[in-house]
Amino acid sequence: MKELIQKLPKAELHLHIEGSLEPELMFKLAQKNNIAIPYKTIEEVKQAYNFTSLQSFLDIYYAGANVLITESDFFDLTWAYLLTCKAQNIVHVEIFFDPQTHTKRSISFKTVVDGITKALQKGEIELGISSFLIMCFLRHLSEAEAYETLKESLPFKEHIIAVGLDSSEVGNPPSKFQNVFEAARKEGYKIVAHAGEEGSSTYIWEALTLLHVNRIDHGIRCDEDTNLVEHLKNIQMPLTVCPLSNVKLRAIKDMRNHNILTLLRKGLLVTVNSDDPAYFGGYLNENYEAIVENLDISETELKALIGNSFKASFLSEKKKKAYLGLLS
Ligand code: HPA
Ligand code: ZN
Repeated sequence: MKELIQKLPKAELHLHIEGSLEPELMFKLAQKNNIAIPYKTIEEVKQAYNFTSLQSFLDIYYAGANVLITESDFFDLTWAYLLTCKAQNIVHVEIFFDPQTHTKRSISFKTVVDGITKALQKGEIELGISSFLIMCFLRHLSEAEAYETLKESLPFKEHIIAVGLDSSEVGNPPSKFQNVFEAARKEGYKIVAHAGEEGSSTYIWEALTLLHVNRIDHGIRCDEDTNLVEHLKNIQMPLTVCPLSNVKLRAIKDMRNHNILTLLRKGLLVTVNSDDPAYFGGYLNENYEAIVENLDISETELKALIGNSFKASFLSEKKKKAYLGLLS
């Protein structure tokens, strides 16, 4: 099945571009931009990536992102991710970025979007990888700050397909951002939100009923509520699940306990993604491999998961069909 994972074309729908910053590039940019980082060696960095919760990861992840300063830094970051996609036969990506992580440090919205977008355009032309960009609001910040960010995004609307919600989940429910998401929808953005990663299943209900999401990011805690599972199945709401992330951040104890296969068998539209691959020990194919190694999944089910990555995407129906045709 490992060969099949490598061979089949795949889409990735839950990837934080800042979370693809490998230690090697972090060191290089730190030196170039004269930014102090709290590590002397790559070994030391890897040791620091021993997380106990979402917050313990976020603290280190935001510190790492401080080395990103210029447009070319954002370009290099994105280009490195796309080269890995090419090597893993990922043909379509929908990636997140966190504008507030950068605008808070006086890096302009334009610098960030231009760097990422130029790499995505080059990736489409030279690597044949299609892509969409999703801007996330940091949920530990206020709704007023999210509004500011929404306003800043408007000149770049043609480059951004959707608005999402990430960062510290517990204590920052979707309801906190109901108004700004309504404004984003009115601007024509599609909507996604992290919900039910560490937060309870009520956060998933809120994302559905208050934010009117097109997809739920993570969503693994839906299994606490049988009515919710039934509803997610009935409306075929995509869940962008990130297995290695869930185990690394201890949302799930062990890969053998992961509920992704159970949810698939219940008829939910679950997909496999890498979240923050530089921090969680693997890119997309390694996430599929972890599933194959630890769960009793059949080849047909593996193909269904891969098919779901296209079905759950924001691609046109025509393009979805073309990709799905390659899987049968
Ligand atoms: N959850 C919430 N916020 C994040 C994550 C995540 O998994 N990765 C990067 N920001
Ligand atoms: Zn995420």
